[in-house]
Amino acid sequence: MMDPNARALRGVKEMKSCAILGKGKKIYVGNLPRDVPPVDLANLVRRACEAEYGEVGHVRVAHTADDRRRRNKSRDPTKLNEGYCFVRFKDESSAERAMRGLGGNEAPAGLAFGGGALRVEWARDTHSEDVDEKLLQQKRDERRKRNEHKARQRKRNKVREVDEIREILQRVPPPGGSEASNLFKELGECKTLVQGAMDRSDPQGETHPALDPETFSIDWSKVPVECDPGAGEWYGSKNEDHVKRRRERKRDQVQSFALVLSHLVAAARRTGTKDLTGPGVPQVRVVDFGSGSGALTLPLAFLFPKVSFHALDMKPKAIELLLEKAEKGGLRNLTASGGMIENFDQEFDIGLALHACGNATDYSMVQAVKNRASFVFCPCCVGKLKFSLEGGSSFSAKHKNYIDLPDQPGESSVLEHPRSEWMRKSVSQKQFALIAKAGDISHGCDQESHGQSHGYDDLARTCKANIEFDRSMYAAENKYTTGLYRLINSGTTAKAEIIVGVPQ
Ligand SMILES: C[S@@+](CC[C@H](N)C(=O)[O-])C[C@H]1O[C@@H](n2cnc3c(N)ncnc32)[C@H](O)[C@@H]1O
Repeated sequence: MMDPNARALRGVKEMKSCAILGKGKKIYVGNLPRDVPPVDLANLVRRACEAEYGEVGHVRVAHTADDRRRRNKSRDPTKLNEGYCFVRFKDESSAERAMRGLGGNEAPAGLAFGGGALRVEWARDTHSEDVDEKLLQQKRDERRKRNEHKARQRKRNKVREVDEIREILQRVPPPGGSEASNLFKELGECKTLVQGAMDRSDPQGETHPALDPETFSIDWSKVPVECDPGAGEWYGSKNEDHVKRRRERKRDQVQSFALVLSHLVAAARRTGTKDLTGPGVPQVRVVDFGSGSGALTLPLAFLFPKVSFHALDMKPKAIELLLEKAEKGGLRNLTASGGMIENFDQEFDIGLALHACGNATDYSMVQAVKNRASFVFCPCCVGKLKFSLEGGSSFSAKHKNYIDLPDQPGESSVLEHPRSEWMRKSVSQKQFALIAKAGDISHGCDQESHGQSHGYDDLARTCKANIEFDRSMYAAENKYTTGLYRLINSGTTAKAEIIVGVPQ
């Protein structure tokens, strides 16, 4: 069924197109009051015309479509109709009388609105004349041609942009550029990166028995539902297949982070600058940047009961929900706060970020570097780096804070892109913007896009790989050992790149 708003809009357009002079049974009446609901106005006009000129077939008042009102916010919401209508009389002599009467200085009593003289014209009858069908067809043809022209133009621009991106990527020296996707390894290999990584002799009891210390698989039946990102009716979707895929994906993400975290926690205990062994000593402190409502932090806090977690998100509602679930799940090793990553000022040992959008990942890395903390980041939405390139935040080119918090004045620094000096030597800021736009993998080539591929999947993946490589080079330039990996079962998602960094 056609959307009522679209129907109203089409009605307005058709009505305007048929307001052409020519005698008949139908007249156009303009300059009507706009604050009257269309149905009431139609009744008013009908009664006045029938009292003065003759029997009326129908009256059509132009509605102001809801979506038109929404789009044009400045529009006066009291304007309920378009201020004109068409009146079709039963016979031509009544219409002629109405033309003379309504067009005169004195409108009939029922139509004297006090808003000046009415405007009256003959209207062409769209239903009876062949001419109208021809006119409408002509308009449809014109619209089709215009749309086809625009589509051809868009296609040409796309091809030009793709050529330009390929050329930029060729200029990036190896191991970046067109081969950068090959830099990402199996996640298990991250063990070799972490000095003091976990091994089989690690004491039992560091992690919950639900996490297998050898395979890092998680027995979700042992995890409280509040801490399981795959439990419950979380996703509000009725499509079982979709819910199942999402559940598996979220659980794979947790397993991936648990794997790396196991090594980093073990390393922090063995090689950390602080004494993190023995009874009563400080815990390893982990911060989850952009935690949302806890899909990652909650299960990790459950699986690593001896580690202290802090969840941070700019959305206070998400933090509220997270704390509620933590309480229900009986977690005692988790705190949380609402605020921007860029303004976070607590110390920590390991930073995590799962799908922290746009420059939220970059700010998380800046925080890790500042604290000489290890990190595991799985970034997403690199298209939103366009805000960062304009000096903005992860969600806006203009706004620095998601909400105004009294203790967060929003004086955060401006990030430089490309992030690494290495990338800056071969890629300008403008070229970086193109790569980031093309690398916004979520739009077009993951399972969530339901087959609406944009046709440049490989190029998009290569661009995303270069963005992540640039980030890892920034960390390397700040004296970090870095590794690039993929999430466990990365085939199920396009946003699977993981950057791991360990301070040297
Ligand atoms: C895509 S969600 C991911 C949530 C969670 N990590 C997960 O994987 O389920 C990104 C989250 O990052 C938060 N975020 C984005 N930019 C942020 C910033 N600059 N400071 C704090 N939170 C931010 C958003 O509010 C959002 O909850």
